[in-house]
Amino acid sequence: MKPLSDEEFEWFLKQLNMKLGIDLSGYKPHRVKRRTEILLKKYNCESFTDYIRLLLKDEEKKKEFLDKMTINVTEFFRNPEKWWKLRDKFLPDLLENCNFKAWSAGCSSGEEPYSLAILLEELKAPRGAKVIATDIDLNVLSKAKQGIYEEQNLTNVPPNYLQKYFRKLENGKYQVLDNVKARVQFKYHNMLKDPFDKGYDLILCRNVVIYFDVDAKRQLYRNFANALRKGGMIFVGGTERIFEYKELGLELIEAFFYKKI
Ligand SMILES: C[S@@+](CC[C@H](N)C(=O)[O-])C[C@H]1O[C@@H](n2cnc3c(N)ncnc32)[C@H](O)[C@@H]1O
Repeated sequence: MKPLSDEEFEWFLKQLNMKLGIDLSGYKPHRVKRRTEILLKKYNCESFTDYIRLLLKDEEKKKEFLDKMTINVTEFFRNPEKWWKLRDKFLPDLLENCNFKAWSAGCSSGEEPYSLAILLEELKAPRGAKVIATDIDLNVLSKAKQGIYEEQNLTNVPPNYLQKYFRKLENGKYQVLDNVKARVQFKYHNMLKDPFDKGYDLILCRNVVIYFDVDAKRQLYRNFANALRKGGMIFVGGTERIFEYKELGLELIEAFFYKKI
């Protein structure tokens, strides 16, 4: 396969948007190109044109393409020590708002919002304390709604939480209990395009912004800051920083936690 030019790639991105409704503006172009080239090789496509034809006629290949662009890797209580900080230090204060509302943006198959819902149960938060969980990938959202997980997704779940908040199924998998499920509402939302709700007490956006270019990331954090109520917090991933937090009216409370002042 001959090397593919940047012009061809630009054309490919336009076709994706126009013909398949896939808008990858805001995503890091090099990353998208590299991943697309791997798929072209896999299907022996000589050009982006061939690959677009394939995507247009084969729904499964379109799904695979979307999957490769947005990795869905996740787990319960990812970076556990940060979650215990959230439980012991920040959530009790945030829950003083009796209409507590959290948002897990880029929630993948549900492990993150369910982790938060488990902590809400632990802290005996009012039943109205809810987690909105959103993603652009409909496949992961339908898995999330089922709330059924393999044992290996649960390594960070403390044994007493496993006992209290999961049911072991006959096939050896674990299902999140209904009281935890009832706190989470899953829905489709593209954080780079769709409007944001306001008044959140807590926003979790973790291990998602790695896909986005600098401008998209900056705008996204601005939108998150606007979506928080005063005193609300953002919890980011274990390798992420909001560099311009002061400009956005945020305070760095400790690594990975920012508060709106
Ligand atoms: C690596 S997972 C992170 C899951 C979870 N937040 C965590 O930290 O374990 C990234 C998720 O972000 C989603 N995602 C990517 N781009 C998105 C967008 N523009 N809007 C909403 N979700 C997006 C992907 O579909 C994927 O499920």
